[in-house]
Amino acid sequence: MNTSSPNIVILTGAGISAESGLSTFRDANGLWEGHRVEEVASPEGFAADPVMVHRFYDARRAQLAEVEPNAAHLALARLEQALPGRVTVITQNVDDLHERAGSRSVIHMHGQLRSALCAACGHRAEHLGDLGDTPPCQQCGERALRPDIVWFGEAIYDGERIYDAITDCDIFAVIGTSGMVYPAAGLAAEARANGAHTVLLNLDPHDDANDYTEVYEGRASERVPEWVDSLLR
Ligand code: OAD
Repeated sequence: MNTSSPNIVILTGAGISAESGLSTFRDANGLWEGHRVEEVASPEGFAADPVMVHRFYDARRAQLAEVEPNAAHLALARLEQALPGRVTVITQNVDDLHERAGSRSVIHMHGQLRSALCAACGHRAEHLGDLGDTPPCQQCGERALRPDIVWFGEAIYDGERIYDAITDCDIFAVIGTSGMVYPAAGLAAEARANGAHTVLLNLDPHDDANDYTEVYEGRASERVPEWVDSLLR
């Protein structure tokens, strides 16, 4: 390993997958694929209408087969290949486009569509089919599988690993996120306080621009490959 290379941590959000055809959460009308976020992304929403919530995530999971990684996902995979062991992607996204682009070190802090969580025993396992059919848990046999997605009010995954990555990185980049959902929204300030060079690549400006050393506005499919090229020059 080249220990003189910088340690790079990248936080991504829905904006990096927008140009692959996946809608972001906070569209102009404030709806996610026609639903209020609380209806489909909270334990209360699931308890109120599990059939609708399963149908919603089953559709999101099926949609993965219709989309492809874009130039921004591919550029981050290229960065990791050029600097093995020095690049970590922390994503808020529940799609699998980073992995399909070739990124290997990916932390899904908000869970994944391709995984199911058993509400009875807590077992998490890859699950590619529909959950609306209420299949049994492979571990305990209960028909209590739910989407393995971190909903509002629930704890993020891999919090300790994320904290370690943030406090140990030289460069922290944030791509395609509105910075409205915590704790993800607080990571840039934390990285900067720990001495990292912080970079924002986003379509729209952020209110928290003070947290960043550099800001590049524009589409991820353009800004991210340019930024990766500049790092590898
Ligand atoms: P948002 O929908 O809140 O924000 C998407 C951001 O991406 C906005 O700032 C857009 O300006 C930007 N954007 C859109 N298209 C872009 C493009 N082509 N290139 C670059 N930037 C672009 O999505 P997130 O910030 O990811 O949580 O949302 C955070 C969390 O809120 C999600 O993970 C989700 C949601 O509730 C859970 O599901 C738990």
